[in-house]
Amino acid sequence: MLRAIDHAGIAVTDLEAAVAFYRDVLGMALVHRETLPEQGVRAALLDVGESHVELLEPLDADGGVARFLARRGPGLHHLAYRVDDIDAVLASLSAAGTRLIDAAPRAGIRGSRVAFLHPSATAGVLTELVAPADHH
Ligand code: CO
Repeated sequence: MLRAIDHAGIAVTDLEAAVAFYRDVLGMALVHRETLPEQGVRAALLDVGESHVELLEPLDADGGVARFLARRGPGLHHLAYRVDDIDAVLASLSAAGTRLIDAAPRAGIRGSRVAFLHPSATAGVLTELVAPADHH
């Protein structure tokens, strides 16, 4: 069902400072930037092997990432797994009684389709399923 770890989502207070560190010091290629208003974030995607790091800075004080930062400070916000058929995976999880945040996929970064699982179902880790638009 799950093919790989697609990305780790990291909540940051200063996106440009975080991009500078991950790109210039850790040497990851910055491959994409996007503002995701419905998730309340500005995001930057960097490559590491076949996986990515997704840096997330809140647009305002209201969204989930903003609340996470206020409560816990910068850090690992979610883990994302790559899937081929996100509808089938969601149906399977739903049939198994898994607590979902998104019963149906929604638009994610870089044209992907994504859905979040509730952390109470995943040992405390906010978990994202991502079906890439172009199999990145
Ligand atoms: Co993500």
